[in-house]
Formats: sequence, C-alpha cells, structure tokens
Amino acid sequence: MTADVKKTAPADAKRKMTVPEIMAAKAQGRKLTMVTTYDFAFANVVDRVDIDIILVGDSGAMVNLGYPNTLPVSMDEMLVMAKAVARGARNTFIIGDMPFLSYQVSQEKAMENAGRFLKEAGMDAIKLEGGRRVALTVKAMVEAGIPVMGHIGLTPQSFSQLGGFKVQAKSGAAVKELIDDALALQKAGVFAILLEAVPAEVGKIVTDVLDVPTVGIGAGPGTNGQVLILHDLLGLFGGFLPKFVKQYANLAADAGDALARYCSEVRGGQFPQPEQTYGIKPEQVEEILRELRRDGYIK
Ligand code: KIV
Repeated sequence: MTADVKKTAPADAKRKMTVPEIMAAKAQGRKLTMVTTYDFAFANVVDRVDIDIILVGDSGAMVNLGYPNTLPVSMDEMLVMAKAVARGARNTFIIGDMPFLSYQVSQEKAMENAGRFLKEAGMDAIKLEGGRRVALTVKAMVEAGIPVMGHIGLTPQSFSQLGGFKVQAKSGAAVKELIDDALALQKAGVFAILLEAVPAEVGKIVTDVLDVPTVGIGAGPGTNGQVLILHDLLGLFGGFLPKFVKQYANLAADAGDALARYCSEVRGGQFPQPEQTYGIKPEQVEEILRELRRDGYIK
C-alpha cells in the first residue's frame, strides 16, 4: 500500500513552506490549502499531496480521541498527536493548536506550552483562539521567535460563552469587533489568521483589511486559503457535520465494507490464502513432527 502511494508522488517532490512564503502567498494571489491531521498514518498521506499546511487541531479531541467537545484535551495529549504528525509529515508546515487553558491562565504558562510544541513536538508554529484578549500573549510569543496563527470568528473553546456553535459577526457592531480583533492580532505579529464560521461577505471584508493571510473554515471563498477537518473531508466522522463541510470521500463506509469482507472471508475460510501464509518444505515439517513426537509434545 505504501509503495502505491509513493508511485503517485515521490516524497521529495514536496518542500515545507516557510513563514515568509505563507505570508507572501496573499500578495501572490495563491490560495493556501490546510487540513487537520492527528496521527502518523494520515500525516504520511497528507505529506505526499500538495497541502501547504497541517493543523494538529484541538478538534482531534473529538474526531481522534472521542471527547464530546474540544475542552477536555490536555497539552500532553496534544503533544502525542503533534509528535506523531511531525514524524509522518516531514515536508509539510505543521501548526500545533493550543488546547483550552494551555494559554489563558498566564503568559508564562502560555509561553511554556507554546514552546513545548516547537521544542518537543517539532511543530513549525502554534495557533490559539481569541483576538484582542490574547494579543499580549501573541506578542510575547512572536518576540520569543514562536510563529503564531490567530483564530477568530467562531472560537470553539468558547462555545458555551458564544451560546453554541453559531455563525458569528452578523451585525455591523459584531463585524467591527471582529476587525478590531483581527487588526490586534496582526499588530501582535501573527503570520496568518484562521477565520471560522462567518458570512462569506464578512470573510472577504476581514481578509481585505488585513496584510496577513486569512485561512477560512466556513468563511466563504474570499479568504486567502481554506482549512477543513480531515475526518469531515474524508467522511470519517460520524457526528454532526456543519454546513461548510464538503465531504470528498466516504472512508468510514469504505472501511466498514473492507472489515465486513474480512470477517466474512475469515469465517468462510477464504482468508488467509497461500499468498498470505508462511510455508516450509514438507521434509522440514516431517522433521519437526518427528522431534515433537520423540519429545512427547504430540502423539
Ligand atoms: O482544531 C481545529 O481543527 C480547528 C478548526 C477550526 C480547523 O481549529
């Protein structure tokens, strides 16, 4: 299977983008492509296609670890996922997502945790949720040499405060707040901003007031790039799918079919066949049987 994937795109065909290249993509009119990934196997797959950026998102709490929302995932659990992805995707720019309460408690704690993503997990950058309220933390990180992606609009770690997973910025006042947040993040030094669940027109307005690129999820086509959650895109997540998801495959159904065929072949004796079986010469079998009889292991 690995050999087949290699044939389609040699691993050396791809080179990790740099922060300046990601920032320059906006002026070049080149759309950024980003997808979440949480493990080694899928990191390998993503690394062999032309995806610019991987986000080891805290959405992994739900789609990879089975939590009901993103709040319970710990820094240590995020690091396990991030390390696996870094081992599997050596040619893709990777962002580690700061989990809930890993950056809100104090600036020191935030710096320490952001540093762990780079030092221990080999991430190229980190992402955190919030606008003006995290701007000072972002500034400190950027000054310490940690590239930061901002995340505004719908910020899932605050879903309770926001009254649920709702489209954001639907009034003039709310759009002004969003723009103020975006500009504060830009001033603090982010290299890009993830914009989640806002009307397409608002996605375009915010993108146009910024110098740094925006990457949208449910923010329409006017952002500088798009991100989707891998498990939504591939049809691997059985939970609720927001309107902005486009499913490009149905891997859960394919995997279910494959497993059902496997069960049926095991039960029906069609698996394993000689090609999946180790053999030895008949004379060796005879010798083994003689020895086992002689020593009383079999009759
Ligand atoms: O954690 C995540 O996957 C995200 C998405 C909005 C892309 O932040």
